[in-house]
Amino acid sequence: HRMRLIGREKGYHGVNFGGTAVGGIVGNRKIFGALVAGVDHIRHTHDPAKNAFSRGQPKHGAELADDLERLCQLHDPSTIAAMIVEPVACSAGVFVPPQGYLQRLREICDRHGILLIFDEVINAWGRLGKPFASEYFGVTPDLITTAKGITNGTVPMGAVFMKEDLYQAFMTGPENAIEMPHGYTYSAHPVACAAGLGTMDVYEEEGLLTRVGEIAQYWEDAAHALKDCPNVVDIRNIGLIAAVELAPRAGAPGARGFEAHVKAFEKGAYIRVSGDILAFAPPLIIQKSEIDQLFGTAREVLKTLA
Ligand SMILES: Cc1ncc(COP(=O)(O)O)c(C=O)c1O
Repeated sequence: HRMRLIGREKGYHGVNFGGTAVGGIVGNRKIFGALVAGVDHIRHTHDPAKNAFSRGQPKHGAELADDLERLCQLHDPSTIAAMIVEPVACSAGVFVPPQGYLQRLREICDRHGILLIFDEVINAWGRLGKPFASEYFGVTPDLITTAKGITNGTVPMGAVFMKEDLYQAFMTGPENAIEMPHGYTYSAHPVACAAGLGTMDVYEEEGLLTRVGEIAQYWEDAAHALKDCPNVVDIRNIGLIAAVELAPRAGAPGARGFEAHVKAFEKGAYIRVSGDILAFAPPLIIQKSEIDQLFGTAREVLKTLA
């Protein structure tokens, strides 16, 4: 009976049809149509009126997790299979979970037997100074989806980690059947597996899964130093992730952000944009001088933007 999936506004889980269905990026949803039936969304956690310029996890908004309780009352919780969120929502513009929010989501899922899925495609592999975001936040989901850093992005590979009892549910089929018959043409491709194993070795040898803990404060201070630049309405950060949100130009949302992206690129810094939000998430090996260079370039660009 549990056929419903719940996502979150501003969530991003890829542009496959399932990911787009649970995702909350309006442009993608608009273009790709009705997608998967039975999906619903809780509201996002972006609340600049209360939380602008928060360092790390914002103070306000744990209660936004209660939106899942509202959907439980609407659909009946016995029809909901799983809730999926990125612990830190990245692609839509870096939205750090408010203090206590993920814990509250976990409690509601537990109360109703709903599986909690963390999409750690970006969050995992040391981005927050711990191997996984779930460890950083101290909240254990039932499943973790991941990719990117698993091979340092060198060769395509994704993975799903799950709790033992879920795993066992897949392993206890008929004797003569293959467990989890969910293969793709390139599942467990030897080159990708070799890249993954090689990446794990480098992470271990160079201590990269925890290195961000050592530079996170420097990173935070450097990001928030842009507060006095023109048009900056919010700065957010956690681990080795930061966002600088610009006020949109009247009648031209996204134009100022895109111009910042192009000008920074011409000056040698790649800054991703989502509308008028500049997002920063450099390699884990970044040095302090490079952090200065990155935000220094951003400052130069922001000063010249109309
Ligand atoms: C959180 C998250 N999930 C999923 C994806 C994409 O996954 P895929 O391209 O494998 O569908 C991304 C890509 O940026 C992502 O950030």
